Amino acid sequence: MLAKVNSCAVIGLDGEVVEVEVDISQGLPAFSIVGLPDTAVQEAKERVRSAVRNSGHEFPLRRITVNLAPADLRKEGPAYDLPIAVGILAASGQVPAQGDAAVFLGELSLDGKLRHTNGILPMVGLARDRGFQAVYVPADDAGEAALIDGIQVVPVSDLVQLGSHLRDAQPIAPFVSTERQPAAEPTSEGLVDFCHIRGQEHVKRALEVAAAGGHNVLMTGPPGAGKTLLARAMPAILPPMTPPEALDVTKIYSVAGLLPQDTPLVQQRPFRAPHHTISHAGLVGGGRHPRPGEITLSHRGVLFLDELPEFPHSVLESIRQPMEDGVVTVSRAQGTVTFPASFMLVAAMNPCPCGFYGDPGKQCTCSATAVTRYQHRISGPLLDRIDIYVEVPRVEYEKLADEVVAEPSADVRSRVEASRERQRLRFSESNLVCNAEMGPVEVREFCQRHLEDEAKSLLRMAMNQLNLSARAFHRVLKLARTISDLGGSDAIGSAELAEALQYRQRGGS
Ligand SMILES: Nc1ncnc2c1ncn2[C@@H]1O[C@H](COP(=O)(O)OP(=O)(O)O)[C@@H](O)[C@H]1O
Ligand SMILES: [Mg+2]
Repeated sequence: MLAKVNSCAVIGLDGEVVEVEVDISQGLPAFSIVGLPDTAVQEAKERVRSAVRNSGHEFPLRRITVNLAPADLRKEGPAYDLPIAVGILAASGQVPAQGDAAVFLGELSLDGKLRHTNGILPMVGLARDRGFQAVYVPADDAGEAALIDGIQVVPVSDLVQLGSHLRDAQPIAPFVSTERQPAAEPTSEGLVDFCHIRGQEHVKRALEVAAAGGHNVLMTGPPGAGKTLLARAMPAILPPMTPPEALDVTKIYSVAGLLPQDTPLVQQRPFRAPHHTISHAGLVGGGRHPRPGEITLSHRGVLFLDELPEFPHSVLESIRQPMEDGVVTVSRAQGTVTFPASFMLVAAMNPCPCGFYGDPGKQCTCSATAVTRYQHRISGPLLDRIDIYVEVPRVEYEKLADEVVAEPSADVRSRVEASRERQRLRFSESNLVCNAEMGPVEVREFCQRHLEDEAKSLLRMAMNQLNLSARAFHRVLKLARTISDLGGSDAIGSAELAEALQYRQRGGS
């Protein structure tokens, strides 16, 4: 007898319908899976056999052939266990034939229980888009599946329960999500709060400007000055994610297998801090079955590259294109996959190998050539994509010992949110999100036109004296736009422009 069951695959971040056909025919007992399955799918045979037996069903001692269609799509991972098991039960008449209304997803363990499976969110999204009415998922993943509206989610804990459900003996109640509405306030648990960081007021201000306009930042300073600490405080001053953004990020974490069990929806903006020994594929994504890299895991959030010059040149070069495009394309054996990668870069570095070049209190022991070589490890084109350079000096004892509590991150965040709101209104006609994304046309319309006279003459002077390039000219204007937005003003005055110029102090290009 032949049975057909629908299931899904994930390619990159997108789902794809896979039809599982099970044929049971006369002949010596055999079990084969065809249709480009990888090793994890081949191993499904052993899991399905034990799971079927251990859940009180009979495993047919006949010739079983499983075909996964379309045949040209490489099938990966263990999510096909459940549809294969259901197909065997249907083909052997132990449960009724499954129509075309439902999709089955999930990995089985040997005792017939369903286990957490990666990529549930994109697969359920696809099932809904293709008009399926119900989706059977592991009970552990029901919360994640229920983030998709318009499709019934049936939580399955094991094959025994599913068997009686399909025979209509004891139906499983569809999953009803209890926490549909995302919490308005993101939790600040585990995040560094600005109020615990002493001094460094100008760095905090620079980070606030960066967060407001989505600008990339590079912090330079001696070891122990607090660069890492300041970077870690960044997520708490960023505005909360919108529901579509949260869903996008959750999809990425679901496919990468990084979704925590008790949080079906990621609501905290990502903060990723990969070590400088990271591989190329680890950072940009890739592998035989392409997986999202760190730049995709920081989509809509912060990518923090600490000790920037220590990263291999080739690795740093590979993030240039994604920084421009907001997406990364990874090649694989069959074509390419595209992952989203729209992140804010926060980088930190010491000014020289010993770390004390330019420090007023401690002598730098590096030779002049060593300092230059160190600073030149980061290529010009990458530096060009950084809007804000900020020095992080050592904090004086008085400030560290001070009992005064600094401004909490929540206050900074509300200013950032207000300025983002101004940007949202400004860009409501286009698909830009923040000032950093403006192109030359928008710079002319939204920045140059709003310059006050005094600011214009200051800009002319700076262009001549600092020898600024055309690119630097645009960056300064975009930064000035963000600073004015933070102040709640449309016009760009000389004070805002002067602050923007000051963030361009390094390299001058
Ligand atoms: N401004 C500061 N206020 C409070 N603690 C600080 C400050 N700067 C540094 N520290 C302390 O010093 C430690 C080291 O700082 P870190 O951020 O790792 O420095 P860096 O990355 O610049 O080498 C921090 O974990 C923190 O305990
Ligand atoms: Mg550090």
